[in-house]
Amino acid sequence: MAPSTLTALAEEKTLQASFVRDEDERPKVAYNHFSNEIPVISIAGIDDGGEKRGEICDKIVKACEEWGVFQIVDHGVDAKLVSEMTTLAKEFFALPPEEKLRFDMSGGKKGGFIVSSHLQGEAVQDWREIVTFFSYPTRTRDYSRWPDKPEAWRAVTEEYSQKLMELACKLLGVLSEAMGLETEALTKACVDMDQKVVVNFYPKCPQPDLTLGLKRHTDPGTITLLLQDTVGGLQATRDNGKTWITVQPVEGAFVVNLGDHGHYLSNGRFKNADHQAVVNSNSSRLSIATFQNPAPDATVYPLKIREGEKSVMDEPITFAEMYRRKMSKDIEIAMKKKLAK
Ligand code: SIN
Ligand code: FE2
Repeated sequence: MAPSTLTALAEEKTLQASFVRDEDERPKVAYNHFSNEIPVISIAGIDDGGEKRGEICDKIVKACEEWGVFQIVDHGVDAKLVSEMTTLAKEFFALPPEEKLRFDMSGGKKGGFIVSSHLQGEAVQDWREIVTFFSYPTRTRDYSRWPDKPEAWRAVTEEYSQKLMELACKLLGVLSEAMGLETEALTKACVDMDQKVVVNFYPKCPQPDLTLGLKRHTDPGTITLLLQDTVGGLQATRDNGKTWITVQPVEGAFVVNLGDHGHYLSNGRFKNADHQAVVNSNSSRLSIATFQNPAPDATVYPLKIREGEKSVMDEPITFAEMYRRKMSKDIEIAMKKKLAK
């Protein structure tokens, strides 16, 4: 039976079987064995144009080509807003289980609280609780699925969503220019850009070596802006997925992940970040992922195919179809694993 919250399980000495991963999926590197290989880029002056913008763009493009992931500092999102958002998120997860479960998503509801797996119906669960809400386009906001406690939740999350949407558009502008396209090309390709915020809470875990907070994956959308606390747990790969590294947390920074959509639109020039989250037995961890996705009916196809290149896609498809194919492939792999057990 899937647990409804992790509160009681976090106090136990051994990990419940539903969280135990196969050996090949378990963490290879410790949550606090940090690497500073992922570029940390100051984007101060990015709007000034000229040489400064050029320098920042070059760094971002290099990071996207090499890693598909980088961190940004001096991004202009108010530190007070970020700290309010983090405090509220911690307060939400500290509420009694029955309060969190008022927003239970397990019946297929759109938005709210859940002890989450990466995929529905998967054999093994992720060691995380999430609260999620859909913030853009604004007509998709269903406030009945947004927590009403802590009290300031709606006002603060709305402001946070807006600032992150602005920041994401700025970064997409840089990536469009890097492809030799007009600044708005990537945002236009998203049609009516979707934004979904997932707040992840990873409680202390009794046997962190046997499980994952969030299973290995690439994000499906264009880019993701991830805020993480200083505990550590986000891991990325290098050497074509062979080596794991733990991303050094940088206070106040956003980790930027390129997703599958960004990867396809750049005709594979920008990597889609291969990543996962590990947990630990010393402290809980909080991260807030803001997913910037195209509209479901936006076309997924390279915006520019450079001379001598072949398209990474056979045909243009909608984002909804791209997502469906990704999920059915993942589900097929998960089913095979389940049957092999
Ligand atoms: C995510 O991939 O959405 C979250 C990763 C993390 O919590 O570090
Ligand atoms: Fe992710």
